[in-house]
Amino acid sequence: MSLLSIRNLRTEFSGPAGIVRAVDGVSLDVAPGEIFGIVGESGCGKSATCRSILRLFGGAPARVAGGQILLDGVGDLAAMPERALAQVRGREVAFIFQDPLTALNPTMRIGRQIAEVILRHRKVSRAEARQAALGLLRDVHVTSPERRLDAYPHELSGGLRQRVVIAMALALRPRLIIADEPTTALDVTVQDQILRLLRERCDSTGTAIILITHDLGVVSQVCDRMAVMYAGRIVETGAVREVLDHPSHPYTRALLAALPGQASRGRDLVPIEGSPPGLIAPPPGCRFAPRCRLAREDCGSGPAPGLLPRPGTAPGHLDACILSEVPDVAS
Ligand SMILES: Nc1ncnc2c1ncn2[C@@H]1O[C@H](COP(=O)(O)OP(=O)(O)O)[C@@H](O)[C@H]1O
Ligand code: SF4
Ligand SMILES: [Mg+2]
Repeated sequence: MSLLSIRNLRTEFSGPAGIVRAVDGVSLDVAPGEIFGIVGESGCGKSATCRSILRLFGGAPARVAGGQILLDGVGDLAAMPERALAQVRGREVAFIFQDPLTALNPTMRIGRQIAEVILRHRKVSRAEARQAALGLLRDVHVTSPERRLDAYPHELSGGLRQRVVIAMALALRPRLIIADEPTTALDVTVQDQILRLLRERCDSTGTAIILITHDLGVVSQVCDRMAVMYAGRIVETGAVREVLDHPSHPYTRALLAALPGQASRGRDLVPIEGSPPGLIAPPPGCRFAPRCRLAREDCGSGPAPGLLPRPGTAPGHLDACILSEVPDVAS
C-alpha cells in the first residue's frame, strides 16, 4: 500500500532563457515506514520533485505543470487549491531543508518556535504546547532539553539546530517527512546521528521519509528503496541493495564506478565525462546518450525510455534504458 503515489509529475520554472523542465515525467511510490532515497547529480531535479509535493518553491517562478501527487486518504495534492494544501503542510507532510538556519526564526527562543507550530494546529494551552516542545526535544535526543527551550538558534551547534528542525517537523506527527539534503551541512559524526534518528522514527512510528541526497553512502546506510534521477527523470529505481549491488542503468553504473572505495568491488574508477543536458530543450531520446559508453544510434531519437523491469532483476527493480530488454548486456 502506498502512502504517496507520484504519477508522471512535470514541474517547470520560467527563466529568462525559457521554460526549464526541471521534472519531466517522474513517478514514484512511498510506503508507510519507508525511507525512500532520491539521488543524482546537482541540477537533476531532486529538489524540484520534492518541493512540488507541497508546492514549496520559496518564491521561485515554478509550477506543477502536470501529473498527480496522490496522498493516501487526502487526494491529489497537485490538484488541490492553495488553501487546502496549507492544511496538509506540517500536519500530513513536513519538510526539512538542508540549512536549519533558514527554517528557524533567529529572534525567537527554540521552545517558543516549536510551541507555535503546535498552537497553530492544535487546541492546547501555551503551557501544554511548551510541555510538548520539551517532549519533542527529548525525542530527538537533544541534551539538557529544559535549558535548550530558552536558547536562541545561534546559541546552538549546527547539529543541535538540525535536531530542533526535526523536532518541529515531528511536532504534528506527519505521515510523511521530506528531507532535502538534511545532513549535507553537518560533519560526518553528527550526520550519522541525525540519520539514525530519522531511521528510528520511521521504524517506531511508521512515518515515511523521502530523503534527498547526492551521497550514495547515505542512501546505503538508511534507505529502503531509492530512485536515481538524471536530467529531470528517474532512470533507475528499486530496493537499495538491489540498485547499489546490481545497478542496471548505465548512468547508475557510471555513478557507482566514479565513487571512491568501489574499486574493491570490481568496478573501474572512471569519472563520468561531460555534463547533463540543459532542461530548456533537452535532447530527444535518452538524455544520458551523449555521455553513455553503450549508446547506440537509436538511443538519441524518439521519446525518452520509460522505466521497465530488466529480465533477471528483482521485482520492483526498474530502469529506463533501451537495453533493458537484453539481459545484463551492460556487464
Ligand atoms: N528558481 C529557479 N529558477 C529557474 N530554474 C531553476 C530554479 N531552481 C532550480 N532550477 C532548475 O531546475 C533544475 C532542477 O533543479 P533542482 O531540483 O534544484 O536540482 P537538484 O535538487 O537535483 O540539485 C535545474 O536545471 C535548475 O537549474
Ligand atoms: S538508452 Fe542508450 S544511451 Fe541511454 S542509457 Fe541506455 S544504452 Fe545508454
Ligand atoms: Mg537540491
